[in-house]
Amino acid sequence: KLKYVDSIGVLLESLSSLPQVRIADPASMAAKMRQMVAAGNKKLLVISDFDFTLSRYANESGERLSTTHGVFDDNAARVDPELGKKFDELRMKYYPIEFDPKLTVEEKIPHMEAWWGTSHGYIVQSGFTRAMIEDFVRKSRVVLRDGASELMQSMEAVGTPLVIFSAGIGNVIEIFLRQKLGSVPRNVHFISNMILFDSNDKACAFSEPLIHTFCKNSSVIQKEASFFHQIAGRSNVILMGDSMGDIHMDVGVEKDGPTLRIGFYNGDVNDEASLDHYMAAYDIVLVHDSTMNVPQRIFDLVS
Ligand code: TMP
Repeated sequence: KLKYVDSIGVLLESLSSLPQVRIADPASMAAKMRQMVAAGNKKLLVISDFDFTLSRYANESGERLSTTHGVFDDNAARVDPELGKKFDELRMKYYPIEFDPKLTVEEKIPHMEAWWGTSHGYIVQSGFTRAMIEDFVRKSRVVLRDGASELMQSMEAVGTPLVIFSAGIGNVIEIFLRQKLGSVPRNVHFISNMILFDSNDKACAFSEPLIHTFCKNSSVIQKEASFFHQIAGRSNVILMGDSMGDIHMDVGVEKDGPTLRIGFYNGDVNDEASLDHYMAAYDIVLVHDSTMNVPQRIFDLVS
């Protein structure tokens, strides 16, 4: 145990010295890690967002990459320029609202419902087939964060369940992981919006309830109760997200253990108010970090 306590101190000191790392309360983070290390891997569970958390926000030249919904924006323009324009207009209208620090979550919710509702309507109306969607994903600008596949492999190797809780599109993530990794790792469980297909393999509807950025909470995980019951022994959570809407993704966990929150901040580095928000909500904030190096070091120590 002493060895671990030392290692936690050493790791925190080393992480704190990295320029992209912000930790508001190192003592509280160390206490959570001590609890996790003492309980061991059999108690551990990882819950992660997908878009701009497991996936990268920007490429090497600083250009914004794609979300799972963006797979349709990118490709719709090729197949149907009018549809491409409609997706672009939606994103330009609603993305700034999603991250506007001056609006409350309650004020944002109706806009998010309108965004997701309209976007899903377009996808269903288009009648895209499963094969077309697989092709869209292959040609998309969705890129894994550096080290994300290695981190997922480490979790699979030691049998830590990974819940991918995404307000994006679950089938797109599944297809993407199959294309990148060969298969979806066995330890992965999705909580996400799923495209439903008709007998001709055409998109015909979306799963209910709708999950948008600000409803990753008890109302959408009600149907996941049996999954969370199966893993009820796992009460220590590593949570990873990129938005303030991600911080309660552990709501379904039957638990009395700690949740260590790792936040990826992809916003304006000079926006101190937003950064302060993230630091208050997440135990550790990674500013414009395109890698999974820090989560990997934390996982290796507590798993
Ligand atoms: P998440 O990262 O919380 O899972 O949220 C998914 C992201 O997808 C969120 O930032 C908004 C974005 N999005 C699009 O880019 N296009 C769309 O059509 C919709 C509905 C969402």
